[in-house]
Amino acid sequence: MTLPTELQPRAIPELVSEYISVTPKSRALHERLSKSLAGGETRVVTHFEPYPIAIASAEGPRLVDYDDNTYIDLVNNMASLVHGHRYPPVVEAVAEAMQLLGTVQAGSHRYLVDFSELLVERYPAFERVRFTNSASEAAILALRIARRATGREKLVIFDGAYHGMGSEFNDAHPNVVKVPFNQPTALADAVDETVGVVMVESFLGHAGVVPPAPEFLHTVQNIAESAGALFVLDETQSLRNDYHAHHGAAGLRPSMVIMGKSIGGGLPVGVLGGRADLVELASASRPDGLRHSGTFNGNVLTTAAGFQAVVALSPSAIATLNSRAAHLAQQLEIEGRRLGLPISVTRSGSTMCVHFRDTAPTNAAEALARNDFARWFHIAAMLEGVCTIRGGRLNLSTVLSDADMRTVEGALCRALARLAEMDVADGC
Ligand SMILES: Cc1ncc(COP(=O)(O)O)c(C=O)c1O
Repeated sequence: MTLPTELQPRAIPELVSEYISVTPKSRALHERLSKSLAGGETRVVTHFEPYPIAIASAEGPRLVDYDDNTYIDLVNNMASLVHGHRYPPVVEAVAEAMQLLGTVQAGSHRYLVDFSELLVERYPAFERVRFTNSASEAAILALRIARRATGREKLVIFDGAYHGMGSEFNDAHPNVVKVPFNQPTALADAVDETVGVVMVESFLGHAGVVPPAPEFLHTVQNIAESAGALFVLDETQSLRNDYHAHHGAAGLRPSMVIMGKSIGGGLPVGVLGGRADLVELASASRPDGLRHSGTFNGNVLTTAAGFQAVVALSPSAIATLNSRAAHLAQQLEIEGRRLGLPISVTRSGSTMCVHFRDTAPTNAAEALARNDFARWFHIAAMLEGVCTIRGGRLNLSTVLSDADMRTVEGALCRALARLAEMDVADGC
């Protein structure tokens, strides 16, 4: 196998050689797959050097690869499997729905009714919802609605924010203005009467789990509202942190909220919810509507699975997730410092990021300035039997036991110890 230039020859740390030696079948499958599937992976975040593991089976919080290595999974398909793999209530609901209706219907069905009602009941900002197949599509729909409602084209978003794959959110787009996260003055300077929408994540997720400063999101809301722009909150990652999502817990009143990931019970999903007058603009019955469509929107399997996932996201399940995450984050910081590593763990609910710097980053520029420790932490963790996301991010699922959490803590502390032993200047 030819290794990428950056990994050869001197710069291959011991960790990568060890990873390659214990995952030969993953490597063979990656090479085979790369001949048919461009890149041999399906998205940016699943790609890493030298190659990702090929997963042979999964159950609860565990994955097994084709070489029979077992891992505790703290990737959870990028925080979408909040109840782990093959969660029994989801599996049963999907099997029942398949028997009754099949996968998708071009009409309403009982799962669509139950799921829509549950979401409107659960999330305070939701007077109406619309379903899409991804949060990317929900974000695009939010923008279309906002532009139609305000007649203004300009969108303000934050450096390092991720609202999906829509080119509408691309830096180079003429209608996009980007401002630094956690800096109210920069935002106030950018928002005027030409801005139709200010869109913000409840915490910067992809950029490295950067939480908002206290009151920052309220300030964003106030600045948007005073300029007559719509305040749109992206809760794709944060919805799992509070029973009524972040907006409910924080007393925010966004015009619209984007959701995805764990809201679908592991099936493809996006939800746009919000003020009735706005979300109704997506309705086909409106002559002035936007003609929002999608062949698989609100399909049988996603709505059946999503219903179960949201029901199981109970206050006690969320409290356990969050307190376990707080404990883990604290222990990793303590151990990292004891080992002499620069370390700071940022966290929002049960999602966190291990940063190899002395102070917690407060914006994307700080969070994304990653060093070599950050580059290899996830490989070190995999060698200890824990899958984390490249770049130091990880998230918990409700199906982890106390014993699993002790295993995770031990494994990640050993991974930190491996990093502390490495000669960073020598290529790792
Ligand atoms: C905050 C946020 N918004 C939107 C998206 C896009 O979601 P999807 O991959 O479902 O399109 C993501 C995905 O990671 C996200 O984290």
